[in-house]
Amino acid sequence: MTAASIASARIEPTEAACPQFVAFARYTAARLLEQPEMISDAGNHFAQLNDLILQLEARIFAACGSGRDTIPEEPIGNLLWLFNRAYLAWETELETRFVMALESGAVASYREYLLYERFRRLLAREFSMVRISAAPKALFIGSGPLPISAILMAGYLDSAIDCVDINVDAIARSQSMIDALALHDRLRPIHRAEPAYSVAQYDLIIIALLAKPKRVILENIARTRKPDAQIICRTSYGLRRFLYEPLAGREDLAGFSIVDSRVASGGDEDTISSLLLR
Ligand SMILES: C[S@@+](CC[C@H](N)C(=O)[O-])C[C@H]1O[C@@H](n2cnc3c(N)ncnc32)[C@H](O)[C@@H]1O
Repeated sequence: MTAASIASARIEPTEAACPQFVAFARYTAARLLEQPEMISDAGNHFAQLNDLILQLEARIFAACGSGRDTIPEEPIGNLLWLFNRAYLAWETELETRFVMALESGAVASYREYLLYERFRRLLAREFSMVRISAAPKALFIGSGPLPISAILMAGYLDSAIDCVDINVDAIARSQSMIDALALHDRLRPIHRAEPAYSVAQYDLIIIALLAKPKRVILENIARTRKPDAQIICRTSYGLRRFLYEPLAGREDLAGFSIVDSRVASGGDEDTISSLLLR
């Protein structure tokens, strides 16, 4: 999605936005534009990027908690793409560092991951929307270096979960993490470089918020799925769109309808919303 399409499709200048949030967002954008290496080389600039992102998140939760969950007007509202790239670089680096710490023995459990509690709550919300049959075949798309969502899915299912990622390095990292934690019988990492593959065997499919483009992923699912498969697609709303790029709208849904949802809102320290599609 381009900055221009975000500007035309997503900005709704209604109430005044939270001034504290706007001031910090302006500061963050200036820092990211001055020092693009924070995004392009997040591994070597992680301390600065981490500090900015954690402060940005805190201001989003505070603004939403006070009811001022409104995207500010230009110019900052037109820079969502910059914040989204920074958040993607941050979360990917956070996962990579955590997997390295697990492999080296510096941390002992995936429960020590910074976002563990947030993902635990997310999966609880998602599983409150689905019917679980015996031994369902499950797929997680966009599992990343640390497949935390798939690990948590395993707690709800008695079958193994296939974890797909387009990035071969992410799959290699997750494989070594699975080896380190002896999770082979629960998670199966699969590299898929191409967007077209059959999902006909799956009863339950969850699509990560950072897996893109959503339209291509959902078109492939629409073409190849089992008719009664349950599909959860993640998205974001309100100021949380400064963190994660949301679904663009009906055009991304590839003909699916939304039958249920769990929305992260208010001052809760949750960032991801989930849509159950049919
Ligand atoms: C950083 S992870 C975040 C997910 C998180 N680990 C979880 O368990 O919820 C996002 C991953 O999505 C992958 N990805 C992006 N687009 C994708 C696509 N179209 N299909 C599969 N994986 C994709 C990226 O390569 C990245 O590794």
